[in-house]
Amino acid sequence: MNRVVFVSNRVADPNKSTHAGGVTVAISDYLNEHAGLWFGWSGNIDNERSFEVNRHLSVATLPLTESEYLNYYLGYSNSVLWPVFHNRVDLARFEEGYFDAYAAVNRRFASALVSLLTPGDIIWVHDYHFITIAQELRALGVSNKIGFFLHIPFPPSQSFMAVPEYLQLAQDFAAYDLIGLQATSDVANMIDFLLHGAGAHMLPDGRMKIGHRECSIVSAPVGIDPSYFKPSLSPNTIKNYVDSGHIARIIGVDRLDYTKGLPQKFRAFDHFLSSHPEYCNRAILTQIAAPTRESVEAYNDIRKELESLAGSINGRYGDLEWVPIHYINRTTARERLVDVYRSSAVGLVTPLRDGMNLVAKEYVAAQDPANPGVLILSRFAGAAEQLSDALIVNPYNVEEVSTSIYSAIKMSLPERQQRHASLMKNIETHTAANWAQNFLTALATTGAQAENGSERTGKNRRRAPAPKAKAPSSSSTRGLAATSQLNRTW
Ligand code: G6P
Repeated sequence: MNRVVFVSNRVADPNKSTHAGGVTVAISDYLNEHAGLWFGWSGNIDNERSFEVNRHLSVATLPLTESEYLNYYLGYSNSVLWPVFHNRVDLARFEEGYFDAYAAVNRRFASALVSLLTPGDIIWVHDYHFITIAQELRALGVSNKIGFFLHIPFPPSQSFMAVPEYLQLAQDFAAYDLIGLQATSDVANMIDFLLHGAGAHMLPDGRMKIGHRECSIVSAPVGIDPSYFKPSLSPNTIKNYVDSGHIARIIGVDRLDYTKGLPQKFRAFDHFLSSHPEYCNRAILTQIAAPTRESVEAYNDIRKELESLAGSINGRYGDLEWVPIHYINRTTARERLVDVYRSSAVGLVTPLRDGMNLVAKEYVAAQDPANPGVLILSRFAGAAEQLSDALIVNPYNVEEVSTSIYSAIKMSLPERQQRHASLMKNIETHTAANWAQNFLTALATTGAQAENGSERTGKNRRRAPAPKAKAPSSSSTRGLAATSQLNRTW
C-alpha cells in the first residue's frame, strides 16, 4: 500500500489522549497500525513563524497567524460552514473576508504540503476546514490521488446554497477523485445539490461530472476500534459502582456544541424526573460537555443556557444526598471514558444533527455483554442508520426522550442482551480500520483525474468560470434515485 498522507485541521497531540472529536480519533486509530504522514494545524498561533513546518516522525504541522485563526478557523470554518452543514443557516455569519482567509490558508497549507509529498502518496483530506486544498494542490501540479472525507453532515441543497461561495465550493469538491460522506442521506443531499444547484451531471458509471472534472461520491460511515473499549474494570471498581445505592447512571459525552442538543437533553431528564418521582435519589445524569470554540458567540450562548438549566434542575430536585445532574464542563481523557461508559445503565446520545457520533458506538462497545446498558440515540445522528437496535428518538421531543429513559432503565435483561448483540455485530463489522481500508482501496482504484496543473494558477483560479447554476430541485427523489445508482455504500 502506498504511503497515506492525512490532511486535517486538527492533528492529535501524541502526548495527550483527550476526546477531541471524531476526526482525530479515526485518524489516530489508522496511524496506530500503519505508517503515514499527518499534516495540519499545529494548534498554535504564531504571527512570526507561520511558514515553518514542524516535522516530527509521522506528523507535520504549521501554526496559524492570529488573523487566520480568527477568519479561517473561527470565521469561515466554524461560523459559516459548521452551522450551514448542520442545517443551522440561522446561526451562520457571512462576514466579508472570511472566505478569502479560508482560501488563503488552504493555499498556504497546499504549498507547504507539496514539499513533503512523494509521487506514490495517496492524499486523504478530512473535514470542512480544507475543502479547497485539493484544487490548490492540483493548481501546483499535484496529480496524486486525492480523497476527501466529510465527518459532518452534508445539508439539504437549499441550505448549502445559502453559502455565497457555493458554486466555487462545487468546483473545489470536483478536484477530488473520491468524496466520502457519513450517511446515505448525506450522499443524497450532495448529489441533489450538484445536479440541481451546480449544473453537474451523473455519468453512466455513477460518477459525477462537475465542470470538466469527474469524481465519485460514496457513503462511508466511520467506525471505531471496538477492542480499545473492551472494558478493563477490575472487579473492585465494578463493585463500588454497584454498591453505590443502585443508582441508575445515565451518561452523555459531547463537545459543548449547539448541534448536540444538550438543553433538550436536560429538559428531557427534567421531564423524566417529574413524571417518575420514584427515580428522584435513584437516577443521575452525568453530562461531560467538553469546552469548544468558546470565542464563537453561539457557543457562549449554549454554555450559559446549559449552566442555567443544570442549576435550575439541580436546585429544584436535589437534596443533601443527591444531585440529579452531574455536569462537567471539561475535557475527559479517552481511556477514562471506558469505565464511565461501562458503569452507566443508559447512554444518552441525542444530537439535533450529527455526521456520525462515535460516542454512541463507544458506549455500546464498552458494555458488558452479559449485563449491557441501553443506548438511546437521536434519529438525526448518522449513527442511527447503522445502530437501529438502539432506542431511536427525536431529540426535539422531550416527552419521547423522557419515556425512552424510563424504558431503558426498566428494560429486561434478555432484551438488553439481544439489542446489544445486534449493535455490537454492526460495530465490529464496520470498524475504523475497515472504514479506512475500504476508502483507501476505493481511492486507489477510482478513475484518474484528467489533470492539467497549469490550467489555473493559485492566483487566478477564482476567476475560472463557475458551472452554471440551475434552479434547485423541489423534489429530493431525484437525488435519492442518483444515490441508489451509485450503490457503493460500506
Ligand atoms: C468535530 C469536527 C472535527 C473537529 C472536532 C473538534 O468532530 O468534525 O473536524 O476537529 O469537531 O473541533 P475543533 O474545532 O476543536 O477542532
